[in-house]
Parts: sequence; C-alpha cells; structure tokens
Amino acid sequence: MRTAGKEPKYVRLANLLEDIIRNCSFRPGDRVPSVRQFSSQHGVSIPTALQAYVTLETRGLIEARPRSGYYVRARQADFLPDPSSAAVGLRTTNFTQTYPIQSVLLSEESAKLIPLGAALPGPDLLPGIKLARTMSAIGRRLGAASVSYDPLQGSGKLREVLARRSLEWGCALKASDFTITSGATEAMSLALRSTCQPGDTVIVESPTYWGLVHMLRELRLKAWPVPVDSVTGMDLDYLEKGLRRLRASACVLIPSFHNPVGFLMPDENKRRLVEMLAGRTIPVIEDDIYGDLQHKGARPRCLKAFDTDGSVLLCSSFSKTLAPGYRVGYIAAGRWQSKVHRLKAGSTLSCATLPVLAVAEFLKTGGYDRYLRTVRQAYREQVEQMREAIVEMFPAGIALSRPQGGFLLWCQLPAKVDSIKLSEQARSAGISVAPGPLFSPYGGCRNYIRVNCGHRLTPQIERGLAVLGKLVRKMILK
Ligand SMILES: Cc1ncc(COP(=O)(O)O)c(C=O)c1O
Repeated sequence: MRTAGKEPKYVRLANLLEDIIRNCSFRPGDRVPSVRQFSSQHGVSIPTALQAYVTLETRGLIEARPRSGYYVRARQADFLPDPSSAAVGLRTTNFTQTYPIQSVLLSEESAKLIPLGAALPGPDLLPGIKLARTMSAIGRRLGAASVSYDPLQGSGKLREVLARRSLEWGCALKASDFTITSGATEAMSLALRSTCQPGDTVIVESPTYWGLVHMLRELRLKAWPVPVDSVTGMDLDYLEKGLRRLRASACVLIPSFHNPVGFLMPDENKRRLVEMLAGRTIPVIEDDIYGDLQHKGARPRCLKAFDTDGSVLLCSSFSKTLAPGYRVGYIAAGRWQSKVHRLKAGSTLSCATLPVLAVAEFLKTGGYDRYLRTVRQAYREQVEQMREAIVEMFPAGIALSRPQGGFLLWCQLPAKVDSIKLSEQARSAGISVAPGPLFSPYGGCRNYIRVNCGHRLTPQIERGLAVLGKLVRKMILK
C-alpha cells in the first residue's frame, strides 16, 4: 500500500484542518477550536496540537488573536481564478515563432538576479553539504575505483534503489529496467531520439517546459500542441479528436506537478491517455521530475504505472530534489531500452561515477525520504505565501495556478501585458522572471509569466515581486 508520505502527526493534523477550512466548513473570521479542544478531539498531546496550529499560521490560514484564540484568516489568493488554457488550433509547429531566451535562465549573470525565473530550489533547501560528505566518504572508501567509468547502463546500486522506489510510483520496475543518465535532459533526448526521426511530429502539452521546446527544435522535430487544463492537465477529448486527423510519433508529458502550470493529471486521465496512445502504437515519454514533490498525501502514480506493453518511457532526475549540478537522472525506456543504450554509447557513454554513487547512498540510507518530508512542507508553504504576496502586489485581473506539488506558479496577467517586455524590464531592475512565450511551442502565452517559488519568501524576494507588480501596473496603464 502507498503511504501518505509518512508525514509527522502535526503535519497530518494541520492538513486535515486545512482541508476543512478550504472546504468552507470554517469561513474567514470564524474561530477554530482551541488548542486544548483540538488536542482532545484528536487524542494528541497539547504540544502536537499547538505545532499543527503554528504550521497553519505559517501557511497563512489562521491567525492568533491575543487572549481570544485562533481564527481563520481571509486570504485573497483563494478568490483568484485559475489561469485559462490558451486556445490552440489543431496544427503542428516547427518553432519558427518560439522565443529563444533559454540560455538567459542559466547564465552566470542570472545568479546575481532576484531568482523568480529559473525553476530552482533555494540552495539552503538542498542537502549540498550532506551529499558532499557522502561523496567524499565514498571516494575515500573506493580509492582508485572511484575514478573509473560507470557502466553504460549506470551503477547497479542506484538502479536497485530506484527499482524499490518504483513501487511507490505504482510501478514494479526491476533494476535492469533502468538506465542512468546525465539529468532528465539526457533521458528525454534519448527517449525522443529512440522513438522519432527528424521531421516527425510529437504531441506536447501547451504550454510546456521550455527545455523540451528547445530540444524538439534542435532535433528537427515538429510539435503538435494540445491545450491543458490548469487542474487536470492535457485535454484528452481534444487529443482523441485530433488523432483522427493528425499522425504523431510520440507524446511527451509532465503529468505530475507540471512545469509551468503545476497541475496533477488524475489517475483516470493517466490511464485513459496511456490506453488511447498504446492502441495507436504511439509511445509516451513521461517527464516525472517533480513527482516526488507533492504538497500532501501520497506520491502520485506515474503514467508508467498504467503501461502494459512497455510503450511508456519514464524519464526523471534528482535535479529538482537533491542536486541539479550532479546531473543524476534516469530512464526506464521499456521497449526502447536497447536503442537507448546504443544512442548513449554514441553520446555520453557513461555518467559521472561519484555523484551517482552519492545519490544512491543517500536514497538507500533513508536520507532522501527524511529530506523530502521537510522540503515538501517548505514548498507548500512557499507556494502559498508567494500566491498571497502576488495578489497583494499585482494589480487586479490576474489568475494564478494552485499547484498541488512542486514550486512553480503560472500567472495569467491582464491581456495588455507583454511578458517578454516585462521580463526584459525586470532584468534591468535586477529580477529574473520567465515570460510565457518561453513555454509555448508556437510563441503564444504572451500575457503569462512563470514564477519560481523554490526560495523562501525573503524581504529581497518580496521586493522583487513588488517591482514586478509595479511594472505590470505601468504596462496596463499605458
Ligand atoms: C520539466 C523539466 N524537465 C527537465 C528538466 C531538466 O532536468 P535536468 O536538470 O535533470 O536535466 C527541468 C528543469 O527545469 C524541468 O523543469
């Protein structure tokens, strides 16, 4: 049975009360039970009940009033609409209109900007020191062997832990099903090159991760953009109808905590999609890079969990959870595994030995699960705080995603706003933010931005949001 992420008791209680508040059983201004009442209602100690209340206070859901108790706070963000899905005609695109600023997000200069752009966790939330210690201990233990090549398929140690973890994803993969890659980027590139030829068409979500748009263009592939709903993901009715007219060689999705929209595709949609495409022999390439970062409850199932004939190629990495710079990723390529190995032998050959072993050990000894419990909670709070800060600092007329995992927000601005100009003006003011067209396979999403919530809401980040809000206001008034 899948666990609800083994959250501490106070977090579970806080989640329970949050659900009650969100379902409107308590309204803004209502008094919630006292800490003492809550502790006896749930059979927990007073300190545990108090910790649950403090957690809800940090999430901005309740507030303490002196000598009176705890009350539900009015949160403006709850009244915001979800971003609408940008309309897309049934057509393919070869990226002549896409916005080519991808390198800007990872340039050295970007590191000096207020980090609302690149999808990165704050360095204080990554276990860098622990991983470095693990890596140096492994280096000392292995001696000369620590500098030799990792096997083509990748370290058996990491593949074994991944196989064990795959039960939590709803799969039952074997160590031999995995191939270790240099990040999710290499995994996705191997998957696309194994399943497609230059000139072929690939079904993608619209909007989608900018790196995928870039990769398709560089591989000389065409995209067929399918609109997404901001809560449930790819529009499957639209896809089913379109499949009567268009042919595709593969379909790439980020079904769990999508970048940039943040949706979690429900299990029934995941099953329907996999069955629909398997019936037409179209392979599914799944990017699961945010899958471990649910804000509450159980870890979502992968599309791969619904795969019955090896037609789903599962790709992921530890870039969003542990160490983007270690470049440790993986692919479970199903029927395409031997092709993936041939392509890898002709490109990167093998991955960096020590980072792979350090990640394997961190996973094996339970460090990863302990760490995930902390960051899931942190990202949930950061996303909530950022939503509230955006509502406060931006003009009326915006819509904001409600991600159930990960650390990204997708923000629809009033139609008059040009997010490319906005991101350029923000950059001159020392702030990085990702403009919508970066995520559009055909240059759309002009009035959208993606906001990174991977960092704690420091006064510097609040300042950055305030400046962005002012820039948006100016554009509307022009
Ligand atoms: C959806 C998605 N896939 C892949 C990547 C790149 O992953 P990696 O750094 O492991 O290559 C990112 C990074 O932002 C991403 O958001």
